[in-house]
Amino acid sequence: MVILGIETSCDETSAAVVEDGRLVRSCIIASSRTDFTNIGGIIPEEAARKQLETILPVIEESLAKAGITMEKIDAIAVTNGPGLLGSLLVGATTARVLATVFKKPIIPVHHTMGHLSSIWLLSSDPLPPPGREGRVRGDEEPQFPLVTLSVSGGHTDLWYRTSHAGGVLLGSTRDDAAGEAFDKGASLLGLPYPGGPALEKLARGGDEERFKFPLPLKKEDTLDFSLSGLKTSLKYLLRDLRVFPSPRGGGARGGGNLRADIAASYQLAICAHLVDRLERALKRYDDAREVHIVGGVSANERLRLMAKEALKGIALRTPVSLRYCTDNGAMIASAGFFLLTEQPAITGSTFTTSARMELQPVLEGLYSQCG
Ligand code: KG4
Ligand code: ZN
Repeated sequence: MVILGIETSCDETSAAVVEDGRLVRSCIIASSRTDFTNIGGIIPEEAARKQLETILPVIEESLAKAGITMEKIDAIAVTNGPGLLGSLLVGATTARVLATVFKKPIIPVHHTMGHLSSIWLLSSDPLPPPGREGRVRGDEEPQFPLVTLSVSGGHTDLWYRTSHAGGVLLGSTRDDAAGEAFDKGASLLGLPYPGGPALEKLARGGDEERFKFPLPLKKEDTLDFSLSGLKTSLKYLLRDLRVFPSPRGGGARGGGNLRADIAASYQLAICAHLVDRLERALKRYDDAREVHIVGGVSANERLRLMAKEALKGIALRTPVSLRYCTDNGAMIASAGFFLLTEQPAITGSTFTTSARMELQPVLEGLYSQCG
């Protein structure tokens, strides 16, 4: 089954053609991010206007690269939430029109569900050699039950999953998402948006042991996360050390490696909290056969390494390509395929598009619909 996946929930416009939920025949990602580098965030109306201009060329390019026409596509999967409403509507409306004109079924996909499925994607590029960090083996099918840590700019969730659409949400962030913690920390250090990759780069030359941050929720028996306290600690640290972002946003002032040491210590603190929750989850759900880390923050090398060291003896997977960590249409096509396999009643063009949407009720709703 060949699915066209469309993702426009934030500043990206992405379309991909994926076969049987796994083989990526094309994945095109256009981003208006550079327009917002110096603003420190996204202007939703501007992002949606850009998406309206780029959506059709991006879809055409993904079909051409995959060597397929709309007539040969079996279904269209599209993100219907959560995200920026204007952006979501561009993707959902385009998908609806294509589905009507070409008489194709349409599968609404929750954005987080897409991230959860990103582990199943196989790159059409040559696969990394067996045993390479982040991959169990090239094309080995992931095994349920499993625990997934889903970490992006909009959410930070821990899942225990028994199938693609089945499972329970074990914990979520009570305040900032992990990606948000990176972005806000980066902004305090005067780094450009999005801050995660920039902060990771700065941290590479730093001493991560130099500054100690508290481990959030250390004494609480919960699988929730709390990241905003780390950002506040960083703010006070920068104030006490008198390190300030430069007025033009070109980077904070501060002697020698100080900024790199601060960035490395802050990154370590975020990763330590995420891995601490993951370890706690595995103690409770000890029948989990593997662990997945997905979402934009799963691109972070320090997080991958720390998780690998902590989770000895259990297979750890991250998306096979960094392109599949951050938002992309391939993960939506993949999720669409697996949801359709498990819940055939999911297709239909009457779905709602919503800026706010929890995944757990969506999954529960699917099961009740199907009896
Ligand atoms: O999944 P994603 O593309 O979009 C959302 O669904 O939010 O995630 C974007 C987030 C941003 O906050 C970005 O700073 C973060 O992922 N991110 C990273 C890295 N690459 C992206 N955070 C830490 N290290 C990275 N290498
Ligand atoms: Zn995302």
